[in-house]
Amino acid sequence: MPERVYIFDTTLRDGEQSPGCSMTVPEKVRMAARLVELGVDILEAGFPIASEGDSEAVDAVAREYPWASVAALARANRLDIMAAVKALRNARRPRIHTFIATSDIHLKYKLKKSRQQVLDEAVAAVRLAREYCEDVEFSAEDATRTDWDYLEQVSKSVVEAGARTVNLPDTVGYSVPDEYGAMIGRMVKSLGDSAIVSVHCHDDLGLAVANSLAAIQNGARQIECTINGIGERAGNAALEEVVMAMNTRSDRLPFETRIDTRHLYPASQLLTSLITFGPQPNKAIVGENAFAHEAGIHQDGFLKERTTYEIIEPKSVGVPESKLVLGKHSGRHALAKRCEDLGVLLTREQLDRLYERFTALADRKKGLRNEEIAALARETVADSKASTVAAN
Ligand code: KIV
Ligand code: ZN
Repeated sequence: MPERVYIFDTTLRDGEQSPGCSMTVPEKVRMAARLVELGVDILEAGFPIASEGDSEAVDAVAREYPWASVAALARANRLDIMAAVKALRNARRPRIHTFIATSDIHLKYKLKKSRQQVLDEAVAAVRLAREYCEDVEFSAEDATRTDWDYLEQVSKSVVEAGARTVNLPDTVGYSVPDEYGAMIGRMVKSLGDSAIVSVHCHDDLGLAVANSLAAIQNGARQIECTINGIGERAGNAALEEVVMAMNTRSDRLPFETRIDTRHLYPASQLLTSLITFGPQPNKAIVGENAFAHEAGIHQDGFLKERTTYEIIEPKSVGVPESKLVLGKHSGRHALAKRCEDLGVLLTREQLDRLYERFTALADRKKGLRNEEIAALARETVADSKASTVAAN
């Protein structure tokens, strides 16, 4: 039986707090509709102490989708936690997510606190949050640069204080998969069934997804991630990538989520329309080119059997169809198929002529639009008919 992994979406919090990604309350509510439809298990809607808008967004999302588990972020202090309690007052399934940094570098330069002080504050914060909310998550910020013995001590203490989920973030995207997997494995062993171990990876070295997957292979059961991988600096682990890795490679990753993958692309598209940038064209799963084929050899294989060059069926992630891009690398097969789709039927000889004209033009351009191809094909057919008449 595949093991269940919970998807904690933080598009509306970690994602939204990054440059170019801020959203208004109504925009967050619209995005939340897509996330709920997608089937995320927990939806982090904001950081209430940060702004009135964040607080309102948490409340609006919780009211609009009462059946969803809605989380609000709070630092490990009374003011933040009470702001989260207030924002979540109407939520039927509230989660308070409280955090404090645990690495020596953060303790020394940012917090100017001792390990004991941080431990005490973490425990006190979880106890306070538990007075208002049954579902409390604790995050040890910068866990991957924290001394493992101390991290284990903090993790055990917050669970004793009432945390149900312990999140061990790679806040600065510094870890590598085998190291992160080992750290998670040790904490999972130490906590046993007393709490769910969660992961939250940033992509500074491009390893956020790989690290998240290494973590679940070592016992973590919650992944924090965002649509299109948006988030602080280089972003967070991309939700669509972790989910599709588990779906596509269930032989190596025998885990199950509740995500309805057909909503991945629509969710990505909506997010793109709400913020200032979209995913890069070659982004896995949701990028413009994720299901586009240009090279002649690839197009030929694809037309004979899709799976020669595609490991995911586009419709399964909500992408309408694969694209055969006609450019200077394309072959005759793809050109003939495109002309047929555009309603122009060609003889073998006409196709040869068209192909010659097409490659000469494609060499000078980045790609040809359908209208240009249709015009060129019609022109070629007309020329070939005219030369036949002249010859007779
Ligand atoms: O990256 C991080 O450590 C965070 C925490 C607040 C969970 O975003
Ligand atoms: Zn983060």
